[in-house]
Amino acid sequence: ILPKNVTIIEVGPRDGLQNERNLVQTQDKLAFIQALQHAGIEEMELTSFVSPKWVPQMADAKEIVEQSEHIGRQIVLTPNAKGVELAIDAGAKSVAFFVGVSNSFNQKNINRTTADSMRAITPLIQDLKSKDIFVRACISTAFYCPYEGKIQLEDVIQLCKQFVELGVDELSVADTIGQANPVESYNLFSALLNELPNILITAHFHDTRKMALANIFASLQAGIQRFDTSAGGLGGCPFAPGATGNVATEDVVHLLDSLGIQTGIDIEKVCEAISLIEPHVSRPIETGMYRLYKSR
Ligand code: HMG
Ligand code: MG
Repeated sequence: ILPKNVTIIEVGPRDGLQNERNLVQTQDKLAFIQALQHAGIEEMELTSFVSPKWVPQMADAKEIVEQSEHIGRQIVLTPNAKGVELAIDAGAKSVAFFVGVSNSFNQKNINRTTADSMRAITPLIQDLKSKDIFVRACISTAFYCPYEGKIQLEDVIQLCKQFVELGVDELSVADTIGQANPVESYNLFSALLNELPNILITAHFHDTRKMALANIFASLQAGIQRFDTSAGGLGGCPFAPGATGNVATEDVVHLLDSLGIQTGIDIEKVCEAISLIEPHVSRPIETGMYRLYKSR
């Protein structure tokens, strides 16, 4: 049985742009964000407060948060105490932490082991929850790691349970390098929904091998009703070799529309938002629905 409604969490301004080698101007990012909001997006990752030495594209995080409209849930990523402080000062009301199930990936991405990351962010989460901030936990390499290969389902569940015990509001569970198949997706998300029934669980698929839509359909069947997607299919983690874009918002909304599942998002307007950012990124955008939009 498929759900009647699905929530799309737009990650284009963050995951989409962080891997983009052209430095996009703050004003152009803000126009993209605003156009996405006008398309009906109510939850979005706006930016990340990370080291500008590591990810120069996100150096304008403060301006992005201060100058965008905070309707719905606007999320910012933070890796550490400094990031949290900067995010809260800028006015963020929703914060996401990101940790890899795989130690090797976590080392490459945030320069410490997964256990050290958990130790460091535990008091930060407790503090944010006492201030009524929405906390999301992004779980990277939940299926495969570019350095360690296949990840065990039990290890993913263990890490997710730790976050739930810390009181986070949402888990976003990621196929970082787009290597999962639909059976693996169904099995992991069924197990998570079964073990952790009282928390929002979101699926985050990268489309490296063009399996993301199939994985989304399998996750819907497992009972998932929340998906991270990126307008234009932009995206990828700079510290995950070979990782390419996230699954495209417009193609996911099309899939859901065709199944009679409501999202509240207007594909035409998502395509208008993409047409604003396309001139500023280093490659042409060629997702299914955006090509159709441009060919008319
Ligand atoms: P480090 O070098 O070990 O940290 O990096 P450090 O504490 O030694 O700091 C280095 C410098 O950065 C210092 O500046 C700090 O002040 C500064 P300096 O003294 O040299 O001038 N700094 C910061 N500046 C701004 N904001 C901060 C911050 N922290 C330190 N928050 C660190 C450790 C975590 C900082 C670094 O590794 C980092 O920034 N990593 C971020 C990597 C990243 O953004 N990855 C992509 C996001 S995750 C992702 O895409 C996956 C996801 O989509 C799910 C999936 O698909 O899997 C979520
Ligand atoms: Mg990602």
